[in-house]
Amino acid sequence: MKFARSLAFGAAALGTLAGSTISASAAEALNIYTTREPGLIKPVLDEFTKETGIQVNTIFINNGLEERIRTEGENSPADIILTVDIGRLQAAKDYGVTQPVKSEALEKVIPAAYRDPEGHWFGIALRARVVYASKDRVKQDKITYEELADPKWKGKICTRSGQALYNVSLFAAAIAHMGEAKAEEWLRGVKANLAKKPSGGDREQAKDILAGVCDIGIGNTYYVSLMRNGKDEEQKKWGEAINVILPTFQGGGTHVNVSGLALAKHAPNKANALKFMEFMVSDDSQRIHAEANSEYPVKAGIPIHPTIASFGELKADNVPIAEIAKLRKKASELVDKVGFDQ
Ligand SMILES: [Fe+2]
Repeated sequence: MKFARSLAFGAAALGTLAGSTISASAAEALNIYTTREPGLIKPVLDEFTKETGIQVNTIFINNGLEERIRTEGENSPADIILTVDIGRLQAAKDYGVTQPVKSEALEKVIPAAYRDPEGHWFGIALRARVVYASKDRVKQDKITYEELADPKWKGKICTRSGQALYNVSLFAAAIAHMGEAKAEEWLRGVKANLAKKPSGGDREQAKDILAGVCDIGIGNTYYVSLMRNGKDEEQKKWGEAINVILPTFQGGGTHVNVSGLALAKHAPNKANALKFMEFMVSDDSQRIHAEANSEYPVKAGIPIHPTIASFGELKADNVPIAEIAKLRKKASELVDKVGFDQ
């Protein structure tokens, strides 16, 4: 059993065990499968090890995390799945690679809208999907998502692929607000306003704004902080070229998504995993996480990164993200139907 659950760590692994084979059920171990950039989560993991003595082994898997755990089956060394976007968290649940958790500590800190009603996943931080607006060319400081379809923006909007996780979730939220028929009309309107074929990531939209390709882009909040405060001089310029406007749905708020975690179905170190999940909503880890990732802490009263705070007060939309998760498939079909990426 020990052998079957052992795990070869590749170059992407964090910590001191890279290149070696570890036993997944060592007394004080915790195995995290994650899609997150190692640099972003390391400060929190280090703090966890410092406070508990539990050694954390991390495997970075960008694509196919759920499939991999399912293939490993009962022998999977995975204890925790740490990922971003409701799309990925829900996929883990749908793949049957998670198990429910009942925890007062988690339920007390995380508002019901940001966790699975059955306890299969929990949001630990929030990100908003917002408008990047050219400092030079956009004078307004308010906007609705609905307005993105207004012909006044014809040829002026940039975004990444409509099928990108973050956009599918945003469009799913649009369906929740407008209904399917109106959402389709809206998405056709947004598509008609695009300055160019969707491409790149969120940061590239800021780059295109600086280059004068478009006036507004759609992007997540934390990228603005990562661009402005990072070491890349080019990206600093992209980040400085834009203002962030927190858009709202008519009759709603700003679309937010989560980064979050789940307990793996066959977690060999379940007690440690539960300790980790509760640690992730402690004041310490929420503060470190908010600082390192520039996400909004899910816990009330934890300071928001100054760059993120400078965007103004976030009025989060009222549609529970579990509802958005259910509409993602429809949203993805709509993207194809309107030829958004063509
Ligand atoms: Fe991202």
